[in-house]
Amino acid sequence: MNIKGKTVLLTGANGGIGACVAYEMARAGAALVLTGRDENSLRQLRQSLHAADRHHTFVCDLQQSSGVNSLLEFCSALPAGIDLLVNNAGMSDFAFVSAADPDVTRALIELNLTAPITLTAAFLPHLLQRQEAAVINVGSVFGSIGYPGFAIYGASKSGLKTFSQALRRELADSTVRVLYVAPRATRTAMNSSRVIAMNQALGNAMDPPEKVAKAIMQRIQTGHWGDIIIGWPERLFAAINSILPRLTDAVLLRQLPRIRQHSRVPAVQSNTLFDKREAI
Ligand SMILES: NC(=O)c1ccc[n+]([C@@H]2O[C@H](COP(=O)([O-])OP(=O)(O)OC[C@H]3O[C@@H](n4cnc5c(N)ncnc54)[C@H](OP(=O)(O)O)[C@@H]3O)[C@@H](O)[C@H]2O)c1
Repeated sequence: MNIKGKTVLLTGANGGIGACVAYEMARAGAALVLTGRDENSLRQLRQSLHAADRHHTFVCDLQQSSGVNSLLEFCSALPAGIDLLVNNAGMSDFAFVSAADPDVTRALIELNLTAPITLTAAFLPHLLQRQEAAVINVGSVFGSIGYPGFAIYGASKSGLKTFSQALRRELADSTVRVLYVAPRATRTAMNSSRVIAMNQALGNAMDPPEKVAKAIMQRIQTGHWGDIIIGWPERLFAAINSILPRLTDAVLLRQLPRIRQHSRVPAVQSNTLFDKREAI
């Protein structure tokens, strides 16, 4: 697909990967709608892009349905309409399930899974009328490999992966293409110092965000739609995990002490439900 002259709605535009995608797409001649919550950084990003006047910024919180609705209204009023929807905004939480904060869990599922599904469903009638259109969902390798400390994040990305696959099949006889891109660890603000320390301790590679943006662009330009995991050997591990999950269990059991050392785990292991029952 040639994105020259196309209009792209990019969520999480001011983040590490989002900004690199914005640079690549602007250079290739697309007009962008840049969204995020931080107005200043969105404005700065717009000014730094090729042909800045061609692009728009829109501030919205995608964890709120009002934010999703206001973004829809804004895009519906654009004369050119949207050709590509890039669901890139996301958050992570490196915590064992026993230490998960329910509010953070809800916020994470809302942003990583509910928002992309809602945006896709809302834009689809419009995308289906375009000569060429695409939905691009940014997932994670943890959507294919259940990784300790990332159970909830992985569940959100795994959901996004299945959603993308089914959507691609639903749209196979239409002009709308679907791409699911799953980066491995990438050097952006999303990763806390604890995640970085764990990756260093385990020797896990961390890609520059430019690499992810280039991979996305390459897929769009060559028309290689489908699922892509960025990085080797992660792509191989994901394939092995899908056919021999017990082998992955054994590998990750060896890594568990190191992962636990860096992750958020409960300070004191206690059975909260049991404790409450005792108190009644
Ligand atoms: N970094 C990694 O290691 C890695 C690995 C695999 C996959 N990914 C995926 O890549 C995507 C981009 O992540 P990144 O690494 O670029 O992270 P990042 O630098 O932290 O960027 C996250 C983006 O999401 C936006 N965002 C966060 N909360 C939002 C909300 N409530 N409403 C609207 N926008 C919100 C942020 O903008 P505001 O703060 O202005 O709202 C920011 O633009 C995510 O989907 C992530 O899961 C990342």
